[in-house]
Amino acid sequence: MNCPPKILVFDSGLGGLTVFSEITRLRPNLTYLYCADDAGFPYGSWNEEALIDRVITIISGLIATESPDMVVIACNTASTLVLSHLRRRWPMIPFIGTVPAIKPAAEQSRSHMISVLATPGTVKRDYTQKLITQFAGHCQVTLVGSGNLAGLAERAMHHGEINDAEIISEIMPCFVEINDKRTDSIVLACTHYPLLLKEFHRLAPWPVDWINPAPAIARRVDYLLMQHCQELLTQQSPNKRSAIFTSGKKPDLLLKNLLNDYGLSQASDVTTR
Ligand code: DGL
Repeated sequence: MNCPPKILVFDSGLGGLTVFSEITRLRPNLTYLYCADDAGFPYGSWNEEALIDRVITIISGLIATESPDMVVIACNTASTLVLSHLRRRWPMIPFIGTVPAIKPAAEQSRSHMISVLATPGTVKRDYTQKLITQFAGHCQVTLVGSGNLAGLAERAMHHGEINDAEIISEIMPCFVEINDKRTDSIVLACTHYPLLLKEFHRLAPWPVDWINPAPAIARRVDYLLMQHCQELLTQQSPNKRSAIFTSGKKPDLLLKNLLNDYGLSQASDVTTR
């Protein structure tokens, strides 16, 4: 085999690109397939059983047709639910998930008031509750389930539309002030949210640390590549990156340009496969 490792990066939409860009920054010369389940977006409001079935079905199809060496579930809403099922079903494939970065937020908060900004699905998960119990017992944790923010991020990416008032109303519940103490760290527990980070900084009522776990996930991918695919890493190949959209829709010009920025230049050719 003369190919470098193939990595599948999966999300419900474009949010996984925030993870994808960190991975490709560390490992630019691998083969990448980005899959957006835009036909199923948004995942935040899905019933748990149905979402497990959907993600397993899509990943199963991609494993059969694409044979990835590694799969990154670049979606908190899916990872907090499906990761254990995927690992059990395909024990030979490394699966890397994206789960709320509650541990680093709790460690670095000085006020011990942190917020977790996520989809309604992620805030309800037992997985999230366990992370809070395990790592943030000394903090006051405010869970904020946002129904619209992932959609606002998609709108910004597809149409370049930013609506300050809508963003403010989604992020405001994260900002809590009690006596002389206030929230100082906000976990971005949905991969879509770093796409709006510039707006969050601009619209926040006071400065906070916005915790984006994407760089740490990329380091984990890099570590596991060395563990599982070391021989393949010596293979050289031209940078091959493609994108699949489960809706089969062709990207419009703005999206096409944006995907080009991520090196996903073949996206328009492969969207309908
Ligand atoms: N990007 C996804 C996440 O990290 C979910 C967005 C959605 O489909 O609601 O949770």
